[in-house]
Amino acid sequence: MSPDRPHLIQLQPSGMQFEQQNKLSLLQSALAQSIRLPNSCRNGTCRTCMCKLGSGQISYQIEWPGLTREEKAEGWILPCVAQAESDLVLEVPDAVDLKG
Ligand code: FES
Repeated sequence: MSPDRPHLIQLQPSGMQFEQQNKLSLLQSALAQSIRLPNSCRNGTCRTCMCKLGSGQISYQIEWPGLTREEKAEGWILPCVAQAESDLVLEVPDAVDLKG
């Protein structure tokens, strides 16, 4: 396994997968690979995209994503302003495969 391989994101319960793309958010990376995740503002405030991190590490592209400390501790993330720092499993029941 190459260390330069892109991080792979797996969605539960659908089993869909996409790769973290350089500099894009998780939301944008998914869209670029024809997977739509719930979203609205795309800047970390509306919380429409909020989903649970099953496993893996993320980082945020903004300083204050709209989550409480408790929510973060419970594993909630905002994929519109987050990037994968490892392979991830995300719980996104409403993800849609745009490839049909
Ligand atoms: S789309 Fe609004 S917080 Fe992510």
